[in-house]
Amino acid sequence: MEIQANAKLNLTLDVLGRRPDGYHDMRMIMQSITLSDTLTLEPDGGEELRVQSNLQFLPTGEKNLAAQAALRFWEARGLTPRGMTITIRKNIPVCAGMAGGSSDGAAVLRALNRMEGEPFSPEELARIGARVGSDVPYCVLGGTALAEGRGEELTPLPPLSTCWVVVCKPEFSISTPALFAQIDRVRLRCHPDTRGAVAALEAGDLEGVARRLYNVFEDALPDRQRTRVQEIKSTLIQCGALGASMSGTGPTVFGLFHREDRAREADAQLREYNRETFLAQTV
Ligand code: C5P
Repeated sequence: MEIQANAKLNLTLDVLGRRPDGYHDMRMIMQSITLSDTLTLEPDGGEELRVQSNLQFLPTGEKNLAAQAALRFWEARGLTPRGMTITIRKNIPVCAGMAGGSSDGAAVLRALNRMEGEPFSPEELARIGARVGSDVPYCVLGGTALAEGRGEELTPLPPLSTCWVVVCKPEFSISTPALFAQIDRVRLRCHPDTRGAVAALEAGDLEGVARRLYNVFEDALPDRQRTRVQEIKSTLIQCGALGASMSGTGPTVFGLFHREDRAREADAQLREYNRETFLAQTV
């Protein structure tokens, strides 16, 4: 079975505080985009679970979220895992704030559920996904959604009007746990207007959403990385983006566009210096 795993962006991202279990309470609006990985699941009648991909450095065993998702699926079914090879064709930048790994895990859950005759509802599948990672439940359901709690408490929102998206990952990586630790140390200057963004979504007001794009993690970045993120945002805005922001714990930056020609221009300009630049649309 072949299945697509879409990347996600954060239209808003707020960290409300650290919890006793070490995680953080979040409030964020998630949005799926057409940039996606392709997964192929091939049952082989054996007992082993293998993961392979076009990227040498991705884990092939149980560390890969795709394998973890498969194990959790069989556990929830009360059955021993079936042997299979999961092949991932990676297009979503890795460790980039776009939930690439979580989306692969969610795609495995959806594929296995389909192969098994849909024993779980989408909500049940999302609950199984929560044991794999905080972003997996959202990736199971996709679309436009408000995510709260650890990220697993989801409220579907009216879809964002279809628009063009330019996604650009600068050439540095960010450790998610390290950035969460840093956000506990900094005093956040501002918080996103998530309520206003939800109202704009309800009104079908793309500009209203784009004006409210905001991610508190930008304030927790080291100076040099924050400067780089701001430079990319400036390029996007100069090219005509309605708004621009960092996604997740970064470092990916994105801009929303009404007009395809402006999005293509931004894509071309940013690609000159950032290999991992993509043109996509909202889903
Ligand atoms: O849930 P997941 O495994 O994706 O989280 C990775 C790491 O991100 C956690 O170990 C934690 O350090 C941090 N995290 C957090 N609060 C969240 C989600 C993730 O502190 N809501």
